[in-house]
Amino acid sequence: MSKNSTPVNQTSPKETEGLLRGRFAEATDEFVERFTASVGFDQRLYNEDIAGSIAHAQMLKKIGVITPDESDAIVTGLQEILVEIKSNKFIWRIELEDVHMNIEQRLIELIGSTGKKLHTGRSRNDQVATDIRLHLRNSIDLIAEEGGRLLNNLAKLALDHSDTLMPGFTHLQAAQPITFGHHLMAWFAMLDRDLERLQDCRKRTNQLPLGAAALAGTPYCPDRIYLAELLGFEGICANSLDAVSDRDFAIEFCSVAALTLTHLSRWCEEMVLWSSQQFSFITMPDRFCTGSSIMPQKKNPDVPELIRGKTGRANGNLLSLLTLMKSQPLAYNKDNQEDKEPLFDSIDTLHDCLIALNGLIPNIAANHEHMRQAALAGYTTATDLADYLVRKNVPFRDAYELVGGAVQRAVELNQPLDALSLEQLNGAEDGPIEEDVYDVLSLDGSIAARDHLGGTAPAQVRAQAEAALSRLNANNAQP
Ligand code: ARG
Repeated sequence: MSKNSTPVNQTSPKETEGLLRGRFAEATDEFVERFTASVGFDQRLYNEDIAGSIAHAQMLKKIGVITPDESDAIVTGLQEILVEIKSNKFIWRIELEDVHMNIEQRLIELIGSTGKKLHTGRSRNDQVATDIRLHLRNSIDLIAEEGGRLLNNLAKLALDHSDTLMPGFTHLQAAQPITFGHHLMAWFAMLDRDLERLQDCRKRTNQLPLGAAALAGTPYCPDRIYLAELLGFEGICANSLDAVSDRDFAIEFCSVAALTLTHLSRWCEEMVLWSSQQFSFITMPDRFCTGSSIMPQKKNPDVPELIRGKTGRANGNLLSLLTLMKSQPLAYNKDNQEDKEPLFDSIDTLHDCLIALNGLIPNIAANHEHMRQAALAGYTTATDLADYLVRKNVPFRDAYELVGGAVQRAVELNQPLDALSLEQLNGAEDGPIEEDVYDVLSLDGSIAARDHLGGTAPAQVRAQAEAALSRLNANNAQP
C-alpha cells in the first residue's frame, strides 16, 4: 500500500470546456480547478472505482436500463482502462477533478457515446462512498493479515521465554519478578483486542452505498441487492441520505489505528529503554538499527522510535476526520473530499508499522543475565515475603511493616533480601520468619507461586502462548 500521488497533467482549458459546465457561462478559474481537484490523491481508488462501475453497468443491464451489448462495451472499456492505469499509460488530468471523472471521460474516449450511459442513476456521491468502503475493506484485510502474523510472532517469542526472568515494573521501578514471556503476552493481549476492533469496524465498512445516487435515490429503482452481491458487501446502507454522507466507518478505522499505534508506541518505548546500555535487557538486530553521523559507537533503535513517533500522525488523522464531520449538514458536502488523505495515511502508517514489527520482534535477543540481575537488584520479592508472613498468620498490614524494616536493613547492607540472616530479616533475635523463607525469596520461587489464570508462572505463560498459537493456526486454516 504505497502512497500514490502521481503527478497529474494539465491540459489547456479549451480541451475540457463543457465538462460538468453545462449551466455555467464561464470556465472554471484555474486556481479553483487546482484547489478543488482530488485526483492527485484519490487516483489511489482506481481499482475500486472500476470494480464499482463494472457492477453498476451489470446492474443497469439487469434492470433493463442499458442493453447487454452496451453493458459489455462498458465493461470491456473499463477493463482496458485498468490495464492502462496499471501499466502507467493512463494520463491523469487535473481538470477532470477526480478519479471518477478521469475514468469516465477516458471510457467515453474509448467506446464513444455508450460510455456516456454509465453514469445513469448514479452520482459521484454514492460512487465515492462505495469506492472508499471497498478500499478500506481491502486494506483492513491486509492489515489484519499482518496483525495476525505479529500476534503469531509474539506468542512464539513468549513461548521461547516462558521462564526467562525479568523485573516487572510499576512507575518504572522494579516491582515484582515476572517472566519475559508474560510481558510479551501482555503486548499480545493489546494487539488481540485491536484486531478484534478492526474486524468489528470491517462489518460497518462493508455496507453498500451505491444506489443512493446524489442523495434521494433514483427513479431507475436500482437492484441494490444485486449490486451488493457483485461487490461482496454484506449489507446495504439503509437510508440514501446517510449512505452518501456517512463516514463513520473511516472515523472508526482511524480510531482503531490510533489506539493500535498507541499500543505499539508503548511496546516501542519499552524496546527503546530495554536496548539502552542502562537496561541492557534486549539486543536488536543490527539491520534494524542505525548509526550516528558523529558518534561512531552509537547503535540507535530508530525503527521502534519511529513507530513511537508515528502515533502522532495516527492520532492527528483521527482528529482530522472527527473535525471534518462535526456540524456537517446532510447530505454530501465537498468537505468529505478531505476524508481521503487522513484515512489513507492511517492505513499506510498502521500497515507499515506492523510490517516493521514483524521484522523486529522475532529477532529480538534477550540478555537473560542482565534481566535476572535487574530483578534481583530491586528487592522484587518483598511482596512474597509479606505473603509468606500472612501464611504464618501475621495480619497483612503488620507483615507489610515487618518487611519494610527488612528492606531498609538490606538497603543499608547493600545486600539482596535472601542474603540476610533470619535475625536480620526478623529485625530481632526471634520472629515469625523461619528457615523456609529462603524458598520464597528466590526469583524462581516468586514466579512459580503465581500459578493461576493470568499469572506469571512459566506454566501459565506456556499454556497461554500455546492456546494463542493454536487459535491463530485454526483461524488461518479457515477458508
Ligand atoms: N471527489 C469527490 C469526493 O471525494 C467526489 C464526489 C464529488 N461530489 C460532488 N457532489 N461534487 O468527495
